[in-house]
Amino acid sequence: MSLVNPNIKKSKTIPSKFYYSKNTFEELKELIFHKHWQFICDKSQLKKNGDAFPYSFIEDFIEEPFLLINDNNNIRSMTNVCTHRGNTLVEQACNLNNKIVCRYHGRKFDLCGKFKFMPKCEDLENFPSNEDNLTKIPLENWKQFYFTSINPKWHFNELIQDMDNRVGWMPIEKFIFSKERSKEYLVNANWALYCDNYLEGFHIPFVHEGLTENLNYAEYETELFKYSNLQLGIGKGDEYCFNLPKNSIDYGKKVAAYYFWLFPNMMFNFYPWGLSINIVIPIAPEKTKIKFLSYIWDETKLNTGAGAELDKVEKEDEAIIEQVQKGVKSKFYDRGHFSPSMEKGVHHFHVLLSEFIKTNSE
Ligand code: FES
Ligand SMILES: [Fe+2]
Repeated sequence: MSLVNPNIKKSKTIPSKFYYSKNTFEELKELIFHKHWQFICDKSQLKKNGDAFPYSFIEDFIEEPFLLINDNNNIRSMTNVCTHRGNTLVEQACNLNNKIVCRYHGRKFDLCGKFKFMPKCEDLENFPSNEDNLTKIPLENWKQFYFTSINPKWHFNELIQDMDNRVGWMPIEKFIFSKERSKEYLVNANWALYCDNYLEGFHIPFVHEGLTENLNYAEYETELFKYSNLQLGIGKGDEYCFNLPKNSIDYGKKVAAYYFWLFPNMMFNFYPWGLSINIVIPIAPEKTKIKFLSYIWDETKLNTGAGAELDKVEKEDEAIIEQVQKGVKSKFYDRGHFSPSMEKGVHHFHVLLSEFIKTNSE
């Protein structure tokens, strides 16, 4: 039986041990994260032929060294580990000039990752073989963003299609990354508590006084999709809302923000000024890093509406999440009921988590 009942009216939250157990934390790498799609970077990192962008699958959590390469406008992802003795091939973003050369003993590969040359190996038998090539890693893109996976258990479209249907009309390819407006936060709490909090607007009037001025709490809606969900932020005044095209199913509504969550740890928040991507990175059972990446669409709308003061809202969220982290470790707490109207998103997350971990708990 699933740990979390799919019927929200009968269901309780995931057992609290999930939020602090070291074993669960480690097991999740294999059970969930290896199987899902992970945001890497945007296209600006790979503009020219030969541009290479080394990355970890999930830095500080699953440090698997991978490499993105632009080979005549074909973007590929492959392992960044030399097939000789395991040196890291490319240490920082650079232009490769048509070949990858390992700086340890000079092994060479082409931009497809195919072995080309190795000094002093003339006498080797059965060499080179396929094993001497760099392994290809699954890669997909949506608009200007790249995503990767180690061992994907579902097609990328199942993750992205619902978001594309809803906000694909925005000129997302043209949004420009802003380093000054991007930042990282460290929270002393489990990564899933951070997601739980994101997935409900229930706490907004209690925790974020400022936000209630811009959002119409009574009309706050959550829509569930297969591996993602959407919280639709309805604004109070026209000036802070999207100018929606007629073919949008939201046409006529005062949409102030689209908060998309992609299982298990990515958030794409669209505001009239642009996009804030949040990546939730588990560091330890009770430590989480959150990367905020800002992409600007319309600078004149910065600092207005629901997308203003992201920093203040973030600090308010972190303070409450750290208190919850202490609470879930109490001997006197294990699981609680969901509000069927306000916590659909959290329930969706817990049902998905329990589907992925149930094989282990049975
Ligand atoms: S480890 Fe790369 S050539 Fe030896
Ligand atoms: Fe919040």
